[in-house]
Amino acid sequence: MGQLLDAIERQLARFDRGETPDYDILQGVLDYCLTYPDLYHHPKEDLVYARMQRRDPASAEALGDLQAEHRTLGEITRRFATTVRSILQDLEVPRETFDRTTREFLDSYRAHIGMEESVIFPVAEAGLTEADWASIEAEAKAQSDPLFTAKGEAQYAALRADILAWAKEDG
Ligand SMILES: [Fe+2]
Repeated sequence: MGQLLDAIERQLARFDRGETPDYDILQGVLDYCLTYPDLYHHPKEDLVYARMQRRDPASAEALGDLQAEHRTLGEITRRFATTVRSILQDLEVPRETFDRTTREFLDSYRAHIGMEESVIFPVAEAGLTEADWASIEAEAKAQSDPLFTAKGEAQYAALRADILAWAKEDG
């Protein structure tokens, strides 16, 4: 993830020098961020956090609201994606808007990762048991298909309905 963010940083530097950024690179990182972290990684971290809340509500709360952070990060990622998409569709996007949304995306992601690595994960490592980690793995596995998770449900509603209808017809 750090390397992906560095790749975006390099494109932002090009843009700030008045050069054209490589939009394929920006698009590639965005495609990745909108799928893997948003649909798999953050939900799994949310499971870890939920376990910590159950074990020790007071210290979990002292760590901050991880789920809310993930929601905000998702919104920032989608805002950045919209800006890049607009540029690719030749819509008028002020330079300042591109600069601001890209910077916001980079800074928020880095701050988030730093916070998890320095604060959340050490506390989780120390406080959760082997059994906790095993059930987190099991729950994460159960919800790992984005077509059938709560988050994916809205996004893939039509596709999901279509698949289920065809499955019924086949059966
Ligand atoms: Fe996270």
